[in-house]
Amino acid sequence: MEIKNILVAGAGTMGSQIAQCMAEHKIDVFLFDSSMEIARNAVSKISERLQRSIDSKQLRTQDKQKILGRITIIEDVHRARSADLVIEAIVEDLKIKKSFFSHLDKIFSKDVVLASNTSSLRISKLAEAVNYPERVVGMHFFNPAHRMKLVEVVRGEKTSEDTIRTIKALAEFIGKTPVEVKDKPGFIVNRLLIPMINEAVILFEENIADRDSIDTAMKLGAGHPMGPLALADLIGIDVCLNIMENLEKQLNNVKYAPCKLLRQMLKDNKLGKKTGQGFYSYK
Ligand code: NAI
Repeated sequence: MEIKNILVAGAGTMGSQIAQCMAEHKIDVFLFDSSMEIARNAVSKISERLQRSIDSKQLRTQDKQKILGRITIIEDVHRARSADLVIEAIVEDLKIKKSFFSHLDKIFSKDVVLASNTSSLRISKLAEAVNYPERVVGMHFFNPAHRMKLVEVVRGEKTSEDTIRTIKALAEFIGKTPVEVKDKPGFIVNRLLIPMINEAVILFEENIADRDSIDTAMKLGAGHPMGPLALADLIGIDVCLNIMENLEKQLNNVKYAPCKLLRQMLKDNKLGKKTGQGFYSYK
């Protein structure tokens, strides 16, 4: 099925980046958020990012308006009835997402794929809210979505082959590499990455090596583009802690227990880049 028109629901950090990604690849986007102000802000942010691409000669001036022209902010989801596919990127809350999926299910015909960008919720749980669970799937982008090449395609218990094929084809169409994964906590990347960061924080906490040694070791010894402590600052200490707590709870295994220092940093509001202080200081 050809995808020409997508509803992106949620215009926060991820929704705005996903909308940009689609529009850059000539897909028309309906952009919806429960806050019109956030939706308008999302378009301003896209405009600023496109301008930066023009300034760095990665985008032609005349393409900026074309890309922005493909994004339509809507106040009511019903206005997106003609969309071929939905990508949901609203707040990470099971109750709110389920209620939103149930709403989508009533608006869109049963052949319209309903994808969620959720990082930690089970796709099969979201699918419980709809009459056609075979069309519910995970399409997990990475921040910043308009740059990062990976999309995890999450197969829920009832997701159909057609749905998986559609999402993989869409991911490839927008220049991403899709990888398929079962509906298990953390999928692939967060299940590997966040416990690795937690372990790096333990090394630091136990004074086994200092901050720069830990980051340098993983850059030069493992070929990582940035060290785990710098990465923790970038992701946000609160987000890392939250993911570890989820992994521990959902996989019911103490090996995922978050270390003490992460909790202390949360208490001290040392959340990394976003608060100006984490393992590193930021201006
Ligand atoms: P965000 O907080 O920046 O944006 C969420 C948006 O959803 C807000 O603008 C809010 O107004 C809107 N919203 C809340 N309830 C709504 C409703 N009922 N209807 C319409 N809009 C509603 O959150 P962010 O970071 O963009 O995350 C969105 C989703 O993407 C979450 O599921 C998250 O797990 C996932 N994700 C986040 C990543 C990140 O780095 N921030 C990376 C990959 C996935």
